[in-house]
Amino acid sequence: MSDSDKSVQGHDINPAANQDGMSKGLTNYGDRGFSLFLRKAFIKGAGYTDRALDRPVIGITNTGSAYNPCHGNMPQLMEAVKRGIMMAGGLPMDFPTISIHESFSQPNSMFMRNLMSMDTEEMLRAAPMDAVVLIGGCDKTVPAQLMGAASAGLPAVQLITGSMLTGSHRSERVGACTDCRRYWGKFRAEEIDAEEIAEVNSQLVASVGTCSVMGTASTMACIAEALGMTVPGGASPPAVTADRMRVAEQSGALAVEIARKRLGIDQILTAKAFENAMRVLLSIGGSTNGIVHLTAIAGRMGFEIDLKALDRMGRETPVLLDLKPSGDHYMEDFHAAGGMATLLRELKPLLHLDAMTVTGRTLGEEIERAGPGFKQDVIRSASNPIYPQGGIAVLEGNLAPGGAIIKQSAAHPKLMEHEGRAVVFENLEDMANRIDSPDLDVNAEDILVLKNIGPKGAAMPEAGYMPIPRKLAKAGVKDIVRISDGRMSGTAFGTIVLHVTPESAVGGPLAYVQNGDRIRLSVANRELSLLVSAEELARRASQKKVETPTAQRGYRKLFLESVTQADQGVDFDFLMPPMTGGKIPKK
Ligand code: FES
Repeated sequence: MSDSDKSVQGHDINPAANQDGMSKGLTNYGDRGFSLFLRKAFIKGAGYTDRALDRPVIGITNTGSAYNPCHGNMPQLMEAVKRGIMMAGGLPMDFPTISIHESFSQPNSMFMRNLMSMDTEEMLRAAPMDAVVLIGGCDKTVPAQLMGAASAGLPAVQLITGSMLTGSHRSERVGACTDCRRYWGKFRAEEIDAEEIAEVNSQLVASVGTCSVMGTASTMACIAEALGMTVPGGASPPAVTADRMRVAEQSGALAVEIARKRLGIDQILTAKAFENAMRVLLSIGGSTNGIVHLTAIAGRMGFEIDLKALDRMGRETPVLLDLKPSGDHYMEDFHAAGGMATLLRELKPLLHLDAMTVTGRTLGEEIERAGPGFKQDVIRSASNPIYPQGGIAVLEGNLAPGGAIIKQSAAHPKLMEHEGRAVVFENLEDMANRIDSPDLDVNAEDILVLKNIGPKGAAMPEAGYMPIPRKLAKAGVKDIVRISDGRMSGTAFGTIVLHVTPESAVGGPLAYVQNGDRIRLSVANRELSLLVSAEELARRASQKKVETPTAQRGYRKLFLESVTQADQGVDFDFLMPPMTGGKIPKK
C-alpha cells in the first residue's frame, strides 16, 4: 500500500505520531486527531496530495506589494525559492505578511516595523512550518522579520530582495537615495531648475530593488549575512540579476536542510554573531538605523547592545567599504568586488570565526570556502581604509544622558569639533513653517536643534537630516550641525547628531534647550554638551510641562504606551524577553 493510500484511509491522521510538518501547531478544537483531519481536508481542497503533505513544510513570507517597489522582484524570487525547496524535498508554503516601504508609510516606516515583526512572529507560530524563508529588503522589513523570527524561535533563512540598479542623469551615475538628497539640495539652493529635477526624478531608481547605496536596506542586508542568517554571498547581488535568483534557490534548499537538522535560530543569533554584526556595521560605514535595529533584534534574544562598547569597537574598526554616502560606489560595485566575502576576509582578525551560520558551517569556514580575493577598488584593505575608525561614534553629555550617535564617516570634518548657538525648532511642524523663512535668525556657525521627533514624540521619523535653511543653502552652505532625537536615512550625509536619549517628548534635557543656548559637539571626546548649568535646566524643567503624546485607540495607542527609547531598539516593552543574555560585546 502506498503512502498516499494509507493516508486516504486515515492511518496517518495521528498527530501524536508526528509533530512536524502539517502536524505542527494544530488549531485547537479539543480533539487533535480531528484538527489534523480537518486541516488535511482543507489543504487537499487546493489540490495537494498526501505525498506532498508528508514533506518538511517550509514557509515563505511573501512581502510582495504594489506599494513596495523595493520588493518588486517578489514573483521571481518566490519561484526560485520554491524551486530550491522542491529540489531539496520540501513543501513550499508561501503566505503574506505586512510589507513596508519607506515612501509609502504614514506617519513613517518605523511606526510600522514592530507591527510587521508581530505579524511575522504570529504567522510563524500560527501556521505549520518546519523552517521559514524570510524575504525582506526595504529598510524596516529585514529587522522586522529577524525580530519576529527570533521571538518565534523557528529555523529561518533570511533572503534579501537585492539592490536596484543605478541610473544615469546627463551621463552622471545616480542612485537612490544619496543622490536624491544631493539633487534636492541643489534644487533648494536654486542650482538646478524644475525641469532638471523632474528629469532626475525619473533616473534615481532605475529598477526594482532596494536603495543602491549603503543605506539602511543595504546595511541590514550586510548585517543579516554577518549574523549568519543568509546563504553566503546573500547580501549583495542586485535584485534583477541571475545571482540574486540563484541565492533565492539556494535559500529555499537551505531552509529544507535546517528544518531536517533542526538548526534553530538560537544557535545562529548568538552573542558572537551579534558582535560580528557590530563589526560589520562599523566597517561598512553603515546606516545609523542599523544600531537601532540590531539592538532590537538582539533584544529579542535577551541581549543588550552596549553602546559604549560599540564606540570602543568603532575606534579599532576602520571603514573599508567605499560606498555612498561615506564613499563613492554603489551596491552593484560591492557585489562585483566580491561582496561580503571580500569584506569579511579583511575583517577576519576582528571577527568571531567560530560563530555558526545557517549553512551549518561557521563564519570562518564560509570565508575559507569563498576562496582567495582578487584585485578590486571598492573594499579597501585594513591598512588603507577609507576612514580610520568605524563609521558611527556614540556621544554622551548632559544633553544626551542615555547617549546619542553621529555618523562620523558621513560628517564634515571641520564641524566635528564645534561650539555654536542653538536655533531651536519645537517640532516638525515648527521646522516646516520656519526653516525657509528669510527672517530665520541663523548663520552657518549655529547648531539646528529639532525636538519631539523621538520614539514617542513622532515615532522617530527620518527627519534628523534637517534641510539647510534656504537662505544658507543659497549662500552655498553645504553642511551645518544638526541635533535631534530622531533618525536619519542611511543614505543621508552631514554633521548630524541623532537618537538623543531620553527624547524630548518624555522630558529628556533636549526638551529644555532654548534659542541662543550654547552647545558643544566634540566627536574626538565623544561629547555632546548643553552649556547651561544644571540649576538652570532644573528651573526650566519646573516651569515647562512636557506633553507626551497619547492615543485613544488602535495600534497607535499600543505604540505610544509600549515603545521603548532608541537605546533599547525602539521595540515594544512587552515583546522583549528578560535580558538574561547580558551585554554584547561580552568582556
Ligand atoms: Fe526601500 Fe530605500 S526605499 S530600500
